[in-house]
Order: sequence, then structure tokens, then C-alpha cells
Amino acid sequence: MTLQIFTLRERPDLRAHVFGSELQSVWPEFMQHDTAAQLYFAPKLFDRYLDYAFAGVAEGKVVARAFSVPFAFGVDGRNELPDGGWDEVIRWAHDDQISNRAASAVSALEISLLPEMRGRNNSLQMLDAMKANARAKGFSDLYAPVRPNQKHLQPRTPMRDYAWALDDKGLPVDAWLRTHVRIGGKIVKIAPCSMTIVGSIAEWSRWTGLTFDRSGEVAIAGALAPVLVSLEQDYAVYVEPNVWVHHRL
Ligand SMILES: CC(C)(COP(=O)(O)OP(=O)(O)OC[C@H]1O[C@@H](n2cnc3c(N)ncnc32)[C@H](O)[C@@H]1OP(=O)(O)O)[C@@H](O)C(=O)NCCC(=O)NCCS
Repeated sequence: MTLQIFTLRERPDLRAHVFGSELQSVWPEFMQHDTAAQLYFAPKLFDRYLDYAFAGVAEGKVVARAFSVPFAFGVDGRNELPDGGWDEVIRWAHDDQISNRAASAVSALEISLLPEMRGRNNSLQMLDAMKANARAKGFSDLYAPVRPNQKHLQPRTPMRDYAWALDDKGLPVDAWLRTHVRIGGKIVKIAPCSMTIVGSIAEWSRWTGLTFDRSGEVAIAGALAPVLVSLEQDYAVYVEPNVWVHHRL
């Protein structure tokens, strides 16, 4: 099935669907509490990024979404992709906006498909649309802090071991990383602290439905690494590692 893919600048009428409950629930509740996300998704700020946000439509229904962000790279000490990954590139882009600094590259932020749309080449269509859009705007590089989609099955494996695990064809074992690499993406480095999500023990219980009865590392469904719990200090923190991939456009 071919998706019809539009930017939200082209189809502002699809914005509510992109943020509707079905696509939003692709993400575990705890993943929706990264405060850096507000610098991109808060409605007034998101208005700046409509040319970089996409809806994928099949049979009249929004079944996929994607977000990307332009940012200045190679200036003001930004000589390397940040260890802070997703959070940091959002902060960079926000700082560029308020400082009127011109962007020189684009970072992917998310590609999500409804579960019934997965495993059918749709991820590639969304990625291709994001690349084509960046290229059409004159950019030569798309970077992506990729969230490998089977990593949650091995939360205790260090990302540096997981990201470079290859199959017998020399491609990444992880399907989503493989999709990136197969079309020419190059794995650059790990972003060890790509997203940081912190909350009180009560908040984490609400987000996960779990009761936390000991301090230490706790594996949580959907998390790529264990959550660090401190009952004594009454907080838990999740630091998500991602994998920076570079697509030359
Ligand atoms: C991440 C995500 C977009 C990836 O999409 P996906 O459809 O699951 O596909 P992937 O690109 O990971 O994997 C492709 C696999 O699907 C299958 N596939 C792809 N095209 C296919 C087709 N035409 N027919 C049958 N199977 C196909 C294959 O198994 C392929 O693996 P292969 O390398 O062995 O061929 C999707 O899983 C998703 O929305 N996840 C939730 C949100 C998320 O985590 N997003 C990523 C963070 S940015």
C-alpha cells in the first residue's frame, strides 16, 4: 500500500489527527513526559515546524506521523553530534529559533506507524518523505537519533553492543536500524543520554501502573534501558540511549 504523505503546512487539517489518541498511544505513557519535547511540541512553538512535520494517510485515515527539525550544525561549539541526542537537538533548534541562527542540517525526531501499518515498507516511505523534504529545502544532511525498535527486548544490553550487532548479511540485527542502513544511513555514534525522563515515585507509578518497592535498576515495558529508582530520594529517572545515524542527501 502506498501512503499519501503530506507536511502539516500542506494539510493543516490533519494536525489534530496526527496528535489524536490512536497515534499518541503508540508511545508508552512514561515516554510522553520528556520535558525537552515541549520546546518542539508546545502548540505555539510547533507552528514553526509545520514544514518538517508529516502525516501519512491510507484510505483517508492518518496512520503514520513523522517529525523533524532544522538546526545549525558546525557552529558555536556544535562540532559533533550531541551525546544528548533527541533532547539536545531540540534544544539546539529552539536556541537557533530565538537567536535567528540559520539552520544547516535537519534532524529526524520521530517516525511512528499504527501497529497494523508496520512491517509493510511504510517506515521507509515516511523516511524517504522526510529525506526528500530536507533535500528540497536545500539541506545536504539528515541526522537521526534512532530509537532501535527491538532494543526494549534487551534493556540491560549496553546500546554500544546492541547497535553494532550485525546479521549474516552485515546489516544491523535491529529492524529499524537496518531500514536506515539499507538505504545508505551510516551509524555515527551512540547518544547515551538522548532522552531524560524524571519524575517522583508517585508519577512513575501513575505512568506505568507499577508499584516500586525497592531502589535500583528496574526494567519497564517499552523502555530501552532500566529506569533508575531511588525510594530514599523519591524519584526515578530514565535515560534513553539512541543511535545517531547520518543520511547524506
Ligand atoms: C519504528 C517503526 C516506524 C518502524 O517501522 P516497521 O514497519 O516496524 O518497520 P522496520 O523498518 O523497523 O522493519 C522493517 C521490517 O519490516 C518487514 N517489512 C518491510 N517491508 C515489508 C514488506 N513490503 N512486506 C513484508 N514485510 C516487510 C521486514 O521484516 C523488515 O525487515 P527486513 O529488514 O528483514 O526486511 C515502527 O515500528 C513504529 O512506529 N514503532 C513505534 C514508534 C517508534 O518507536 N518509532 C521510532 C522512534 S523515532
